[in-house]
Amino acid sequence: MRAILMGLLLAASGAAAQQAADAVEPEGLSTGGFESLSPEVNAALAAKAAGVPVEANDWMVVAANPHAVRAGADVLAAGGTAADAMVAVQVMLGLVEPQSSGLGGGAFLVWYDAASGELTTFDGRETAPLAATPRLFQDESGEPLRFFDAVVGGRSVGTPGTPALLAEVHRRYGTQAWAGLLAPAIGLAREGFEVSPRLAQLIAGDAERLATSDITAAYFMPEGVPLVAGDVRVNVPYANTLDLLAEEGVGAFYAGDLARTIVATVQGAENAGVLSEVDLAIYRVKERPAVCAAYRGHDVCGMGPPSSGAIAVGQTLGMLEGYDLSAGPDDVTVRRLIGDASRLAFADRGQYVADSDFVPVPVFGMMEPAYLAQRGALLGGDVALAEVSAGEPEFDHALNWADGEAIELPSTSHISIVDSFGNVAAMTTTIENGFGSRLMVGGFLLNNELTDFSFRSHRGGVPIANRVEPGKRPRSSMSPTIVMKDGAPVIVAGSPGGSRIIGYTAQAIIGMIDWGLDPQQAANLPHAVNRFGTYDLEAGTRAEALGEGLASMGYETNTRALTSGLHLIAIGDSLRGGADPRREGIALGE
Ligand code: GLY
Repeated sequence: MRAILMGLLLAASGAAAQQAADAVEPEGLSTGGFESLSPEVNAALAAKAAGVPVEANDWMVVAANPHAVRAGADVLAAGGTAADAMVAVQVMLGLVEPQSSGLGGGAFLVWYDAASGELTTFDGRETAPLAATPRLFQDESGEPLRFFDAVVGGRSVGTPGTPALLAEVHRRYGTQAWAGLLAPAIGLAREGFEVSPRLAQLIAGDAERLATSDITAAYFMPEGVPLVAGDVRVNVPYANTLDLLAEEGVGAFYAGDLARTIVATVQGAENAGVLSEVDLAIYRVKERPAVCAAYRGHDVCGMGPPSSGAIAVGQTLGMLEGYDLSAGPDDVTVRRLIGDASRLAFADRGQYVADSDFVPVPVFGMMEPAYLAQRGALLGGDVALAEVSAGEPEFDHALNWADGEAIELPSTSHISIVDSFGNVAAMTTTIENGFGSRLMVGGFLLNNELTDFSFRSHRGGVPIANRVEPGKRPRSSMSPTIVMKDGAPVIVAGSPGGSRIIGYTAQAIIGMIDWGLDPQQAANLPHAVNRFGTYDLEAGTRAEALGEGLASMGYETNTRALTSGLHLIAIGDSLRGGADPRREGIALGE
């Protein structure tokens, strides 16, 4: 397995900015509307509604929209690999779930290769343009811009990485013809797809921002009226873009007419950006070693920097290793332990984690069992930790970083796949905020991923690790995860949800390992998430009942929607898949 085995007080203003961000829910709850697609889709929807996993023996795919899952399932049933299916799923998601991910965004993939038994990761994260400076998101006096002033328009657009990631992984691990994988999405884009309840709800909620671009407004609000559920939407520009990529490969995305149109759109937007043709031409996918944490006899493996996902999920679990969580998710002490472990992980994340090609990140030191045991010992009391600060992991460079304050309000989507050869793909994919920068080119939305950088570049004269720098990749929370046991994959996991992705994914893993849940039960678990001190409790679920006990332990609590999108597969004697009831996804397998 190619894997690395693994103060300052949390600045009050950073935590305050994050908590202000909590007030906005980028993607609310919605489900349904797919009952007529096929008997298999119906059965999958029924299983999800009944709270039972989909079972299969050969292959399985779980993703956020039944059209996309079906496209992936057709590829797998025809003998394609997980890499082939991933391409088909992603290009279909770009059509039917355009607010969350697509060609204009970035993605991370954790890949288990059955032939070699190796686990590796691919970084298709967006990059800052070469002309970007640390002051990209500051006003003339150096103060951070308001979040949506930064998001909407060209300024926030990083060089997209998803097309390059799809092509690279297909080149390495695919067996099916590239053009054929794009064909179902091309067909549906020309024929028209039914707008889902979720997409319609999100368009209605974002109408004002969508209206800032004529092309985007015309697509989502033809003649000024937001699309509603059941409307049939044709997307000819998207079909043309996919035709181009089918014929010429993704090189046609990074140079030529499409690249020039992307650059002209970004530079010509009212809130102009600095993306250039050179930025597109030099974009590269990076293969990186997986970052793994030991947890109760398993190796929990995921995406290292520029994602904070595997580090924060792994640290949270590593700190909990010495504690008994068997009392389950409704036990207030169990919640204290998980919540404070998460807070400690977020304190390290805020101070140390950024693109490791630009700043030295002490990944090894942060994942080291002795360090995690020392941090975990802080959880030994019986009330909430009064103060949480970054630890001092072992490092081999000076680490004098100030605490960052990136605000993450993403759309994002997670895809889990196991193919009939035993390959496994965990891919989390995003354009950042719902509808990204609100700029549309070639039938897809451009990302606003650069707003995942810290808007502040310095604090008290000390630089922030996750500040904007030319060519750098913004820190992510995306946590595509493959859990290994005795050298074989046993769980595939991941979710959208901004920096709460970390808590959602950690809970799903605890649910399956500690509480013996199947993947659908784990996806159904009510959420209680603590990142910066305030305990978020999922509204309308039994997590609300934890409020009194947590308050008596000293936590501030906040009841709110917590719209995860967990897509989980358990690999054992059979494959079992679960899809998050909060979104429109399903599991299909055979
Ligand atoms: N933009 C979401 C993330 O990368 O975490």
